[in-house]
Amino acid sequence: KYKMILDLDTGIDDALAIAYALAAPECDLIGIVGSYGNVLVENSAQNSLNLLEMLGHPEVPVFCGLSHSSTTKSFSVMPISAQIHGKNGVGEVELKKAKRQVEKMSGVDFFIEAAHKYQGRLLIVPTGPLTNLAAAIKKDPSIIDLIGHVTLMGGALTVPGNVTPVTEANINQDPVAADEVFRSNLPLTMIGLDVTTRTLLTKEDTKKWRELGTVAGEKYADITDYYIDAYKVTSPHLGGCALHDPLAAAAAVDPSLVDTIYLNMKVDTKGAYAGRTIGDETRINDEARQTQAAVNVDKERFVKTFMKHLTDLFAQ
Ligand code: BDR
Ligand code: CA
Repeated sequence: KYKMILDLDTGIDDALAIAYALAAPECDLIGIVGSYGNVLVENSAQNSLNLLEMLGHPEVPVFCGLSHSSTTKSFSVMPISAQIHGKNGVGEVELKKAKRQVEKMSGVDFFIEAAHKYQGRLLIVPTGPLTNLAAAIKKDPSIIDLIGHVTLMGGALTVPGNVTPVTEANINQDPVAADEVFRSNLPLTMIGLDVTTRTLLTKEDTKKWRELGTVAGEKYADITDYYIDAYKVTSPHLGGCALHDPLAAAAAVDPSLVDTIYLNMKVDTKGAYAGRTIGDETRINDEARQTQAAVNVDKERFVKTFMKHLTDLFAQ
């Protein structure tokens, strides 16, 4: 069985990824690393703790990652993030505070420890900035050959970005870290806006969770409805909210959900295109073996599996 670590800026779709990872039979969720992005890093870690406890999985440890990119001195949440995820990251829904606290070990060291322990069975799913993973491979480059696979939510190859015309939010937070990860020889798949904005959820779906009559069903319905309402304002053409982060968790355990192309990629780190994910022209004649970008998704099968897994989990 695969061992999965989520690296999250929790975040509503990050919260949906937690539920997916807990419910997916193909993997054990062995830990969550907190990142900054939708919220500050400490709020991200606290949200993850609260959600895990509500979902009946207080045994999954939560680690704190880095609080900002290596090229900035600090981090503050963008107004658009607060608009989409709520100021508290979970749609202004109040969650019961978890009894447990974050682990003492840093998220970066947890990546390194788990890579040595589980090797090819370890799946890392970052759905926020790539700051923590970049720091881990810098601290211990040997993990590049140990990690089973990295399936990340971020970037945009065939469509425009969602923060600027060329950049997606997660990569935009730390283009330098993302570039280091993309060019590191890690086996990785980019689950970008190309595919995630095709996988949509509506209030018809969340209604089914509310009708379960459980705390988890009700809270997750409230949280996700906030996100659906925000999408009505920011992306009315979609007709639902995008399941960015849970699609990355799903593709990590079932890569057949997406079609990918192999491509040696880079991330622009400077100038007007900083944060853009694109083919690396300096390696255009080198065979691409490690880096894939998803360009198509079996959205019906994914949304169906997603709804089944989450509804079963919330019913417990
Ligand atoms: C990504 O940015 C964050 O706001 C979401 O949680 C998702 O990971 C989408 O661009
Ligand atoms: Ca996220």
